[in-house]
Amino acid sequence: MAGQIPQRFIDDLLGRVDVVEVVGERVKLKKAGRNYSGLCPFHQEKTPSFTVSADKQFYHCFGCGAHGNALRFLMEYDKLPFPEAVENMAGRLGLDVPREGADDPHAKMREKKRKEGVNLLELAASFYRERLVMQEGNAARAYLDGRRLSPEVVKTYGIGYAPAQWEALKHHLSERGIGEPVQVEYGLLIQHEDSGRTYDRFRDRVMFPIRDLRGRTIAFGGRVLGEGKPKYLNSPETPVFHKGRELYGLYEARQADSRLEQVVIVEGYMDVVALAQYGIHHAVATLGTATSEDHLKRLFRLVSRVVFCFDGDRAGRQAASRALETVLPLMIDGREARFLFLPEGEDPDTLVRSEGADAFKDRVTCAMPLSEFLFEQAGEGRDLKAVEARERFASHVLAGLSRIPEGVLKSLLLEELARRSGLNESRLGQLLARREQAQQQGQRSHDEAYPAADNGRDEMSHGTVNAPSGRRHGVERPSGGALAPLARVIQLLIHEPALVETLPPEDEWLPGGDPEAALYTAIVDVLRAGRYRSPQVVLAHFQGSNEGRRLAELARRELLIPRGARAEELEGLVAYFRRHRLRPSCQEQIDALLARQREGERLSPQERQHLMALLADLGSAGTRK
Ligand code: UTP
Ligand code: MN
Repeated sequence: MAGQIPQRFIDDLLGRVDVVEVVGERVKLKKAGRNYSGLCPFHQEKTPSFTVSADKQFYHCFGCGAHGNALRFLMEYDKLPFPEAVENMAGRLGLDVPREGADDPHAKMREKKRKEGVNLLELAASFYRERLVMQEGNAARAYLDGRRLSPEVVKTYGIGYAPAQWEALKHHLSERGIGEPVQVEYGLLIQHEDSGRTYDRFRDRVMFPIRDLRGRTIAFGGRVLGEGKPKYLNSPETPVFHKGRELYGLYEARQADSRLEQVVIVEGYMDVVALAQYGIHHAVATLGTATSEDHLKRLFRLVSRVVFCFDGDRAGRQAASRALETVLPLMIDGREARFLFLPEGEDPDTLVRSEGADAFKDRVTCAMPLSEFLFEQAGEGRDLKAVEARERFASHVLAGLSRIPEGVLKSLLLEELARRSGLNESRLGQLLARREQAQQQGQRSHDEAYPAADNGRDEMSHGTVNAPSGRRHGVERPSGGALAPLARVIQLLIHEPALVETLPPEDEWLPGGDPEAALYTAIVDVLRAGRYRSPQVVLAHFQGSNEGRRLAELARRELLIPRGARAEELEGLVAYFRRHRLRPSCQEQIDALLARQREGERLSPQERQHLMALLADLGSAGTRK
């Protein structure tokens, strides 16, 4: 059990982060005098009453009274328990969170040994780097050239070479006063069981240092030059290295971009390095193991989206379904997981070199959302005409759903399941609840670890969709997720720009009063100009502007429908707007209802609900401008 986090560490942390930055990453802020202001993320509002003070390092909402410091904000906004919020914040600064009780004698010893080990590994890393540029590194350099690694990326990743000798590193370290037992303990030397003789573990290999978040070398992976077995040799488990936790390239990714938003999890060292060479710095690799819960927890502390990358073959699909199982319980709101399947026989290294960075980025952007993969796994795409088939499908999906923490994603998936299976949503809800109850008998509920994400967090989550294209009305909707129709149109376009061709040539159906109409026009103009075909490039076009932020936000949200159904939905949306064009605008409806209320008339429950929905829609639309 981890001890308490020392107060002085928390104070120190708060002294080093800026609340304006923390809030500003999540809420759009404007400078207003000495303070910043914006729309409060904790309640619905149309005019800003939320302020952030850089001097005092706190935020305060005059509307709902929410206030606190940067940590509090993270806890409230990201719905993190206190220790997680501290970890998250420390992670941004590359700090490890100390725990009280860490100064008992054992812990001190451990700490001392850790330092010793880290120094030793650092020395080894520079030894390998030096050997690479020396004469004896000729063959290794030729090998790296042959694999088209640039000198820059070799330097960034600290790649080196372990000479083809039995005791080169051992002598080097021993001359510097480092005893053999430590070298054995940290996996640099192997000790022969019978004779007790020691020799270098890594010989005649290209060496990849594995670094922790602070950039300290904690282990190595070494590749043979060319053929030979094992292809990669990794450090064994040591006091500082636990294979199932570490990710190759994470330190370098954070160095390249301290505000990392997503990571792509690939299989190999070479994949990480090749992608980085092509400017894709956010790839990390597990070290010859499947992605573990530990890996994912670490990653989700730093980023909100992970994209799993797999071979397109059967083994790849299997690995993907294991990854899906692992990630489901971690899918609290605000997190996102996607699945990217590569063409058979390719890995990111070969692919990015053959098709270039943009094409690869497009693949990442268009990677399959978790929802789609879940439905696919459950057998969608097979014939679901028979009732039994549909029930089997539903029961598969429910098994997955029951492992997702409460929140918007879960509600949306349930709703989507009803649509796809044709089974009744409330019935599915009951089945799900029963399944969860059964599971909870044996296991503590997720609720403590993942406090239920409730309303009002996502700024766009208040809308009830004016459900077009035959989606179901009247069911109690989750408080989040659903987009206003025009936002949905834009979302479809950004996910799949080619859909622009299916739009009617005239925009006469476009609702005039909708604040998002201008954004629609802007993106359609750009797409019709015809140069951009990939989401990434479209996003790049708008980068840095308000439109860009809004588009990125829409691109991040899952579409929740399969590729084949998108054109049809878009068509449905346009038809929906056409139908509603002649009806009074939302604003007019709201004004009329409010006027009646002011005059003391009691609105019917339906009318009240309608009014709430209209207001929510308007509110969410209003926050986007
Ligand atoms: P792959 O066999 O897919 O190789 O191993 P790769 O990444 O494409 O490597 P290159 O391009 O041939 O150099 C994927 C990962 O699995 C682990 C390594 O982490 C490797 O990067 N692995 C593989 C091992 O640990 N040991 C091995 O013998 C092979
Ligand atoms: Mn490879």
